[in-house]
Amino acid sequence: MSKTKRIGVLTGGGDCPGLNAVIRAVTKCAVFSHGLEVVGIEDGFQGLIERRVRTLTTDDVSNILTLGGTILGTNNRCDPKRYPVTIDGRVELQDTSEQVMAYIAELGLDALLVIGGDGTMSVASNFANRGVNCIGVPKTIDNDLEGSDVTFGFATACHVATEALDRIHTTAASHHRAMLVEVMGRNAGWIALHTGVAAGADIILLPEIPFDIDKICQKVVDRSRHGKRFSILCVSEGAKPIDGVQAVDRVDPLSPDPIRLGGISKVVADRIEKRTGLETRTTILGHVQRGGTPVPEDRLLATSFGHAAIAALMAGKKNRMVVMQGGRVTDIDIFKVANRQRQVPLDHPLILAARDIDTSFGD
Ligand code: F6P
Repeated sequence: MSKTKRIGVLTGGGDCPGLNAVIRAVTKCAVFSHGLEVVGIEDGFQGLIERRVRTLTTDDVSNILTLGGTILGTNNRCDPKRYPVTIDGRVELQDTSEQVMAYIAELGLDALLVIGGDGTMSVASNFANRGVNCIGVPKTIDNDLEGSDVTFGFATACHVATEALDRIHTTAASHHRAMLVEVMGRNAGWIALHTGVAAGADIILLPEIPFDIDKICQKVVDRSRHGKRFSILCVSEGAKPIDGVQAVDRVDPLSPDPIRLGGISKVVADRIEKRTGLETRTTILGHVQRGGTPVPEDRLLATSFGHAAIAALMAGKKNRMVVMQGGRVTDIDIFKVANRQRQVPLDHPLILAARDIDTSFGD
C-alpha cells in the first residue's frame, strides 16, 4: 500500500494532443478514487525552478478532455541541470537540481507524475536518482518512445497528416505535378510510414531507409510513362540521402535535444524538378500536426495511461513509466526510457505491405 497523499504533475517537451486528457484522468482518479491532493506544475520542470505551481481540483480539469495543448504549459528547453542564468550580462548554465529537490520537499510532494517524451524522462531520472518517486506517462506525436508500442498524440498527428496528403493528391493530379509533403517525427519514420500508407503515397521517405535520388526520379518518370503524370511523396523530416546528411532547420543550444530537423523535402523536390522536368511543389506540415483536439483513439490512450499511472503509484510502485505492450497497459523502469528513441524496424509489416503494392521507399 502507498503512503502517497500529495502528488505533482507536469507536462514536459513538445506538446501533443491528449496531454489535457491525461491531466484530467490523473487528477480525477487521484482525487475521486484515492483522496489525493494534486499540484499542477507550470511549464514542465521550469515551474519547479521558478516556483510556479497551482493546486489542481477536479473543477480545474473539467471539460478539458477534447482540448489540444496542455493547461499546465510545457517547455522543451528546460533541464534543471543546465538552467540559463544571466550574470554580469553573460548567460551561464547553472545546476539547479538541489534547489528543485528543496522545493519538492517544501511542497510536500510524495511523487512526481511526469508526462513527456524521452528527453523529459531523462530529466526525471535525475530526480529519481535523488530519491523522488517519478512516474512517467509517454507522450509524443513521433511515437518513438522506447518500451511502448504506441504513444498518445501519434494517432492525431497521422490523422492531420493523412488529411493533408489526401488534399494534396487532388491538386497534384489536376496539375500533373510531383508533390511532396514533409511530416514530423525526428529520427523515427512512424508518422511518415503510417500517413504515407494511409494516403496511398507513391514514395515514402523514412530516416530508417536512406534514399537514392536516382531511384526516386526513376519512379516518378516510370509513373509518367504509364500515364500517371503526377506523384505523391510523403517525406519524413529525418529522411536522408544515401550519400548525404539530414537537413537541419535550426539548432537550439539550450534544448536537451538541440537539433531541429526540417527542409529535406525542398532538397528532394529541387532535384526531382531538375532531373525529370516535372513541375514540383513542397508542403511542410510542421506544428499543425501537434495542435488541436485529439482523435478518439488518443483520448482513450491518454485516459488509460493517466489511470494506470495513478494505479501504479497507489500500488506502491517506484520510478516506472506506463506503456502499451501487445494491447495491454503495463509499466516499465523509467531509467530504461531516458534518451532512447524507437525507430521503425525495416521488416515492419506496413513497410512490407507497401513494398508489395509498389510503393517506393527511395531505395
Ligand atoms: O518531438 C515532437 C516534435 O514535433 C518533432 O516531431 C519535431 O522534430 C520537433 O518536435 C519540433 O520541435 P519544436 O517544437 O521545438 O520546433
